[in-house]
Amino acid sequence: MVALAVLPAWVGAQPLITHEDESKVPSYILPDLLTSENGKPILSAEAWRSLRRPELLELFTHQMFGEAPSEAVELSSELLTDQRGLMDGAAHCKEVVIHLRPREAKTTLPITVLIYQPAGSPKPVPAFLALNFAGNHTLSDDPQIRLSQTWMRNQPDRGIVDHRATEASRGTQAGRWPVRKIIDRGYALVTAYYGDIDPDFDDGWSNGIHPFFFREGQQAPEVHQWGSIAAWAWGLSRILDYLHQEPTIDPKRVAVMGHSRLGKTALWAGASDERFALVISNNSGCGGAALSRRAYGETLRRINSSFPHWFNDAFTRFNDREALLPFDQHQLLALIAPRPLYVASAAEDQWADPKGEFLSAWHASSVYRLLGSRGIESGVMPALDEPVGHQVRYHIRRGPHDVTDYDWAQYLDFADAHLK
Ligand code: GCU
Repeated sequence: MVALAVLPAWVGAQPLITHEDESKVPSYILPDLLTSENGKPILSAEAWRSLRRPELLELFTHQMFGEAPSEAVELSSELLTDQRGLMDGAAHCKEVVIHLRPREAKTTLPITVLIYQPAGSPKPVPAFLALNFAGNHTLSDDPQIRLSQTWMRNQPDRGIVDHRATEASRGTQAGRWPVRKIIDRGYALVTAYYGDIDPDFDDGWSNGIHPFFFREGQQAPEVHQWGSIAAWAWGLSRILDYLHQEPTIDPKRVAVMGHSRLGKTALWAGASDERFALVISNNSGCGGAALSRRAYGETLRRINSSFPHWFNDAFTRFNDREALLPFDQHQLLALIAPRPLYVASAAEDQWADPKGEFLSAWHASSVYRLLGSRGIESGVMPALDEPVGHQVRYHIRRGPHDVTDYDWAQYLDFADAHLK
């Protein structure tokens, strides 16, 4: 627990000013990855595992993402659609609703999972698992895929009206999902709409997964309990639970991937659930890969004001007080070690602070080194479109905040190197 009561009076509310100006980045000292909270140096893999990793995990859990319920939930599934012989016979595609029933709940939380998999593979295949922003039907214009019924943010130009998807929204995100390439490289692709787990708005905690776990009379998570990002990450773990029932997918070779807020989610899922074999953060920015202390682009105050439901309430105490954070995001990345980690930025996505994302990945590499593998070896930011690193890899590509074919080409090569 961090003592915030003794702060000087000047550290108070400041306006929501943000900047994208390197000369305004404050000087800062990052909390040391390899020194424990009691000042002991962490000199061995064993000390990392038994002492430092648990204490960092606990800090991120309690001071940022919030505690997710640890109790097991009942999981059942229902096959919705099953299509064979797609993509010239190369792929199968099915949709499964997984029903989660926490405790003695009278109802279940349904998550509709879309699975594309290579046809006729003699053995279980590795998979990419990634939540999507606007429903499974936005990956492709295939009319067989069920139109999502769940609440979503209005985007009339993309066929989302009155907070519901319409037929016009089919295939609108297809550019972000090169399904055919993923299949041809021998991977399954597993996805679900993130709003199935918790709709992404400040709804007073009345819908999504949170209320299933409230005590009698409870109406909101407590200060250290989970926000929406932790809920989406928890949902990814439940989908991974389900994948153990899929004989054609190898649950030990699942890469968790996400873009932007879902990149923050993928990082937390990978940090908190070590069953994920590989982790990919695409343009995750503030609260994801980017160092908070740089306060470049989106800041803690800004993210906690615009999206008060993403993190827990304890995290808001660090608004404008980044220097007092007991951790920084390089330590979140280090929680993934020694598993392969890919962090990607985009040059025009200054809001997400590409340099802060790179530095974070570079600093996290010291833990990979301690654990006997190689991460990123130079602290000099690479040129555009020139990936660097080994078990920790990084690129900054040309162009805006998005997931492109270039990004996926790197992720597929990275997965080939580590999951095959
Ligand atoms: C906003 C938000 C970011 C987030 C992004 C997204 O820009 O400020 O933190 O990553 O939305 O998820 O698209």
